[in-house]
Amino acid sequence: MIKNPYNPTGPADPRYYADREELLSLFRNNVNAVTVTKGVTKPINLAVTGQWGMGKSSTLYKFKDILEKETDGARIFSSYVSLTPSHCKNADAFFACILETVFRDYESTVPLPNKLIQFIKDESIRLNRWKLKRMGASLPEFERAEEDLNAVNFKNTLLQFWIKLKESKFDMVVIMLDDIQYVLAQDNGEILYDLRTDMQSLSMKGALFTFVICTPESLFPQMRTVAEPFTRLFTRFELKSFYIDGTTEQIQKPLDVEKIPLKLSKSVIKEIHDITGGHPYFISLAMKHFIDKIPEGTGSASKFATVCPDIMDYFAEAKFNADFEKATDTEKEILLKIVTLRGPEFSPKEIGGRAKITYVERLVAKGLITKIDRGKYTLYTQLFAEYLRMKAAGAAR
Ligand SMILES: Nc1ncnc2c1ncn2[C@@H]1O[C@H](COP(=O)(O)OP(=O)(O)OP(=O)(O)O)[C@@H](O)[C@H]1O
Ligand SMILES: [Mg+2]
Repeated sequence: MIKNPYNPTGPADPRYYADREELLSLFRNNVNAVTVTKGVTKPINLAVTGQWGMGKSSTLYKFKDILEKETDGARIFSSYVSLTPSHCKNADAFFACILETVFRDYESTVPLPNKLIQFIKDESIRLNRWKLKRMGASLPEFERAEEDLNAVNFKNTLLQFWIKLKESKFDMVVIMLDDIQYVLAQDNGEILYDLRTDMQSLSMKGALFTFVICTPESLFPQMRTVAEPFTRLFTRFELKSFYIDGTTEQIQKPLDVEKIPLKLSKSVIKEIHDITGGHPYFISLAMKHFIDKIPEGTGSASKFATVCPDIMDYFAEAKFNADFEKATDTEKEILLKIVTLRGPEFSPKEIGGRAKITYVERLVAKGLITKIDRGKYTLYTQLFAEYLRMKAAGAAR
């Protein structure tokens, strides 16, 4: 059996991480500038946006890896926080989740001195007591009891922590918040204002924190509408589909890293690029299938379609069937109508006018349609269009 290093279901292994040089340089330069100048150059905050499966979480893991391996003796504390809807139910749950994760799942480029470990222990105990109290109070909502108003003070806790870190000659802290869009999904935009105020006060007090947030591209404008001053704190970087060089790297790197003796021709890579439109998730999915189907002992490959003639079924199974089922019956009709139109872009006018706008917006919210501009939309990937066409043809037969 040929080893199969492709895994579309989780973030990419940092050793396989492809392309995105500009973004990685931005991150590296930020970290270097802050650590080398001892904080005279202030840290920037980064907002990594991108469509579903474009590699946002993979990028955060890559950042973690850069901090571990490429920081040349700098003392950096970092934490990766994966937010969920329940963490974003209210401000308390949100800030408690961040602090808890920071004190539980952290990385440090140098071993933490005892007094920092003690600080973390004390804070964790404080947070846990606070949480336990809530569970005992038989309230369904995760909220703070009146007498505990100071139990979770995000800014002060981080500031105290920074003072301790600074005493131990730490250079900076990186906090990564993945999937921050859940705050918006629950109409809790005010949390972003709180976070902004805290980030600004930390910065004013000289605490060297870089915050990195990730959110789907389609929700960034909404975030701007809800909390414009918050978004202004971030340098935004949008992850888009790969050009052929990025696709080549994503395909080739795992083979090189794992020393898998399989030579892929340029034409097979081009074929995969064309099929997937350079979308990293689908490249990973296509490669997983391809390697599984290649007979053992194959040393080179020059054709994708002959090995995987059923690739669309494989994509449907992994993704599109579930996508389609997310749509209601009327939305399904709209999706099937879209693929009968001439181009990949469409306006609501072409599918039945104003009355259909709400449905289109719902499909945008479900991630199946992307808004390009005012009154201009497209399906989230052309592969999905192909799936819908196949579905329509199947039904017509
Ligand atoms: N730069 C990259 N190099 C290699 N593989 C990548 C890269 N970016 C993404 N991938 C592949 O795409 C898949 C999806 O990536 P990831 O989960 O990071 O996307 P995401 O944007 O966080 O998605 P979601 O919107 O679902 O959170 C990964 O499993 C990985 O295989
Ligand atoms: Mg993700």
